[in-house]
Amino acid sequence: PLPVVRTVADLRAIVRDWKRQGLSVGMVPTMGALHEGHLTLVREAARRADRVVASNFVNPTQFAAHEDLGKYPRQQEEDARLLAGAGCHLMFAPSADEMYPEGFATSVAVAGPALGLEGDFRPQMFGGVALVVTKLFNQVQPDVAVFGEKDYQQLMVVRRFVRDLDLPVEIVGAPTERDGWGLALSSRNAYLSETELETARRLNGILAEAGVHASGGRPLPGVEREAYAALLKAGFERVDYVAIRHAENLTPFRNDIVDAPARILAAAWLGKTRLIDNMAV
Ligand code: PAJ
Repeated sequence: PLPVVRTVADLRAIVRDWKRQGLSVGMVPTMGALHEGHLTLVREAARRADRVVASNFVNPTQFAAHEDLGKYPRQQEEDARLLAGAGCHLMFAPSADEMYPEGFATSVAVAGPALGLEGDFRPQMFGGVALVVTKLFNQVQPDVAVFGEKDYQQLMVVRRFVRDLDLPVEIVGAPTERDGWGLALSSRNAYLSETELETARRLNGILAEAGVHASGGRPLPGVEREAYAALLKAGFERVDYVAIRHAENLTPFRNDIVDAPARILAAAWLGKTRLIDNMAV
């Protein structure tokens, strides 16, 4: 079975031993409730490093008070089994007290790619992600870390603070794993009812179609409005945003026309479940 450590001290002892042997270390940060999407990141890390650490920690600092921290799915034993099968060597599953000891008083402020989109609707999230990922990198000291394009804005934010803070780790992005209908795999899909799942499976097609219109030269405000309406018509109860942005920094296109690499990103609600997706345009 996969070794599991719960303290930074135990983690460091193992990683120190690997490094003494000259082995390189890859890492995949997760919040657990693992699915095939997470496992592709682990396989990618295993291709790029001799040893792979996956963290499994539902990070309270990236959830707002009204969000799903309390009901976020937790299944650490199953996660450890899945990780072992994907070529992971160690699961780091700290308690909240281990990560945020009594008196914790430090934050990491992010701007740039953290502004807008998710940042407008979950203003606490990327600061919390930057804080926990910075801590995880200091704890594990990986040579390389793999993140999914599923959370595209998060990947951009991580690249930014790693560069800005001179963290000595290579960041690798991996493509989004989808089910047979194109729905991006997500731990939160477990919240969906059968009928919600049917609607959820239309999200990727609506974004892909909007992407075709955008790359065909149609003005973006119209394309975004149409996609927004199509999502509501498909059964999403609320759409936080549908936006077509510059792929490398997520800024809007000045001329409302796609004339450089672009990404379409969206967030929409089914009942109490918020889904996000994105793809290249
Ligand atoms: P979590 O949602 O568990 O995702 C962990 C990693 O898996 C992220 O890099 C995410 O982009 C990736 N991932 C999720 N679904 C994917 C899919 N369908 N295909 C490919 N990759 C996928 O993202 C977080 O956790 C947290 O914010 C974290 C970075 C761990 C900080 O707490």
